[in-house]
Amino acid sequence: MSTKKITIEFPTGSAGYDITIAYGALSGIGKWARRSLSKDAARIAVVSNPTVFKLYGEQAVEHLRSAGFDVFVWLMKDGEVHKSFRNVERALDFFAASDITRTDAVLALGGGVVGDLAGFAAAVYLRGIAFLQVPTTLLSMIDSSVGGKTGVNSAAGKNRIGSFHQPSGVLIDTGVLKTLPERELTAGFCEAIKHGSLSGKKLLEQISAFLEDYRTPDLASNFDDLEFRSRLDEMISEQVSFKASIVQADERESTRRTDARSRKILNFGHTLAHALEKVTDYKYFKHGEAVGYGIKYACELSKTLALIDENIVNLLNGVVHRAGTLPPVSKLDPEEVFEAFRFDKKLVAGSLQMILLKGIGKPVIVNGDDIKRSTHIRALKKLLNQ
Ligand code: NAD
Ligand code: GLY
Repeated sequence: MSTKKITIEFPTGSAGYDITIAYGALSGIGKWARRSLSKDAARIAVVSNPTVFKLYGEQAVEHLRSAGFDVFVWLMKDGEVHKSFRNVERALDFFAASDITRTDAVLALGGGVVGDLAGFAAAVYLRGIAFLQVPTTLLSMIDSSVGGKTGVNSAAGKNRIGSFHQPSGVLIDTGVLKTLPERELTAGFCEAIKHGSLSGKKLLEQISAFLEDYRTPDLASNFDDLEFRSRLDEMISEQVSFKASIVQADERESTRRTDARSRKILNFGHTLAHALEKVTDYKYFKHGEAVGYGIKYACELSKTLALIDENIVNLLNGVVHRAGTLPPVSKLDPEEVFEAFRFDKKLVAGSLQMILLKGIGKPVIVNGDDIKRSTHIRALKKLLNQ
């Protein structure tokens, strides 16, 4: 088993941590948790959901117990709708009932929903205790488990309540992707293409070549192939390195920064994605699928503003196409989608900050209000095939 390790360090003073990536890494979870936590840590509250726990939970708990931890398991229901305050309260009650103390830890075993909720609960329990991330979806491996954003959805909107709470370590077992459903893989690949577009040709070419060599619908059939495993580990590790490089230099997404390496650039494709998710009541798209459309939209606008040419638009559309089939959008109303952009507008000084591209690896933050309504509507009609 070859292991890759990426270290994230924060100049701000927040404690850094390692992101450990290996096929089969779950078998080492006990020793890894020991290394990642303080020597006083005795109890671990594992937060997961029934889908993931049934597949990987018992193995994880057994290894944690063998490493000497007392382990307590709390399962939340599966799905975005359960990333709620109510469930944070339930998790906190569970931690208290399990006598989790300030020197103990919470461990998230699951996708971004489990990770965001467990991280937030760890951030507020006893004013903040240690937290370990064991992401099991492609999206959570390359994106949500790294960088310390935690939170839940509420009446105010998606991810409106949360905190920055960095994990003490992230353990990525790439082998668990074998059981991940196809739509979830496509969603994760779209986030990987987002990183490629922002980082530069090297990362984009890597993800593009991976998707050319391995088709998303058949991905599970490749897991016995050693070359595939090594390419998968390499691809995930490069993705994590890019995300780490951005978040360590702008840990809390400074509202003032608008440069090409600000954490805000990670919102590339997200203005449209959030609008698509909102107009469909968060029930139609996987988040990453909506980001796939968001990338296409940002490219179209970038071309209209003469920032990039048709070749780059075609290149990125082609890579998104290879990530897998996205849900049809022709029934959505462009005007309604445009109105939903306002949802993102409230976030920074009442203006819509859109991330566009001047080239591959060259993001630029543009005031979306400076772009004419008619330009948005024309681009939306094209995207929605109308
Ligand atoms: P998810 O957590 O809902 O997981 C998707 C589905 O896959 C679930 O049904 C889950 O049970 C299942 N699953 C997970 N691992 C599996 C495995 N190995 N095999 C089989 N099934 C498995 O979705 P997600 O895409 O991982 O995360 C989306 C969430 O992440 C959203 O709430 C989004 O807001 C959040 N997010 C957070 C950040 C951040 O920086 N904190 C970044 C991006 C996204
Ligand atoms: N997923 C965007 C961020 O972590 O900032």
